[in-house]
Amino acid sequence: MAKKTIADVEVKDKKVFIRVDFNVPLDDAGKITDDRRIEMAIPTIESVLSRGGSVILASHLGRPKDAPDPQYTMKPTAVRLSELLKRPVEFATDTVGADAKAKVAAIKSGGVLVLENLRFQAGEKKGDAGFAGELAAFADIYVNDAFGTCHRTDASMYAVPKAFGNKPKVCGFLVEKEIKYLSNAISDPKRPFVAIIGGKKVSDKILVIKNLLGICDKVLIGGAMAYTFNLARGEQVGDSFIEPDKVDLAKELISIGGDKLKLPVDTHISDKFGADGNKKIVQSGKIEAGWQGLDIGPETAKIYAEIVKEAQTVVWNGPMGVSEIPPFDEGTKQIAQAIADSKSISIIGGGDSAAAIQQLGFADKVSHVSTGGGASLEMLEGKKFESVDVLDEK
Ligand code: 3PG
Repeated sequence: MAKKTIADVEVKDKKVFIRVDFNVPLDDAGKITDDRRIEMAIPTIESVLSRGGSVILASHLGRPKDAPDPQYTMKPTAVRLSELLKRPVEFATDTVGADAKAKVAAIKSGGVLVLENLRFQAGEKKGDAGFAGELAAFADIYVNDAFGTCHRTDASMYAVPKAFGNKPKVCGFLVEKEIKYLSNAISDPKRPFVAIIGGKKVSDKILVIKNLLGICDKVLIGGAMAYTFNLARGEQVGDSFIEPDKVDLAKELISIGGDKLKLPVDTHISDKFGADGNKKIVQSGKIEAGWQGLDIGPETAKIYAEIVKEAQTVVWNGPMGVSEIPPFDEGTKQIAQAIADSKSISIIGGGDSAAAIQQLGFADKVSHVSTGGGASLEMLEGKKFESVDVLDEK
């Protein structure tokens, strides 16, 4: 990648503004349930601190409505960051207000400050230049290490680096790594290149499937979206979740894909959504009324695992079934196991498939687990990010 990174700039005694993606899941008590996005930002932060710079971190959390909302405060992320860095982390109770300004002015070399949620300000989602100018005035260097937000042009992702003008604007190590894995997979994959695409809705992944059918050697379909494909082939799907208005599109993907596109051969069905209905395995496309498909079947998992075994590059995005409700997590687990066992370059998209890999303890058996949900999908669609384009070239 031809963009400068934080390693390319002198940071001693400089204030470095790092746009991170600390949009982490929280439970009802406001406790962080998965801190991977914070952990993955550490190398960039440490790189600045170890070279005598100070760090001002900004992120969004959730989707507050352009105004402060206590349930979306960044405070828990500052606390967790302090634990991970093993050093004090200051927290500003506003984003560009009096507290932020005072704490930015007081920050010393080696200091770390987390600003309050960017989306508490209406200017963030609007990409407002005035708001961007206030943030840009805080620091000498701009860093984008928010891979999960790279598909957005919110102020902090685009107008802020613009407002830095001739001051350095570079990417962090996380953004560098994510783009390296995802764009290499798309532009120069080792073959056979296999994509496994799951999830509930085909409508969320149309562009991904279309793009990957042009690049991959095989695209394996799982999750509830498979039932819309079954319907497109005129098969019986019972009461399974389907998107009737996407049937024509599924037909189009089947005809573009030909032999490359693989659909499940069997499916695990139940007469009730959830864990406590009657269950059985049937052939795909043979689901009677009153029954719904909730996972791929064992034969499909076996066939997909054999294909994964032969692959040199594997991209996986989306669960194979209702992975939060056992036993309908079995297909997702089997695929995770097959990827962990394979010697391929393996890239796991954000969200449920990333969570499955983590929970099964396979994170260190795959090449890369993306921190981006929407962002990694857009990369697989072949899109370019304006938030990265705006950064300095090497
Ligand atoms: C994400 O979790 O996908 C990113 O943090 C972006 O969040 P958003 O979809 O609310 O813009």
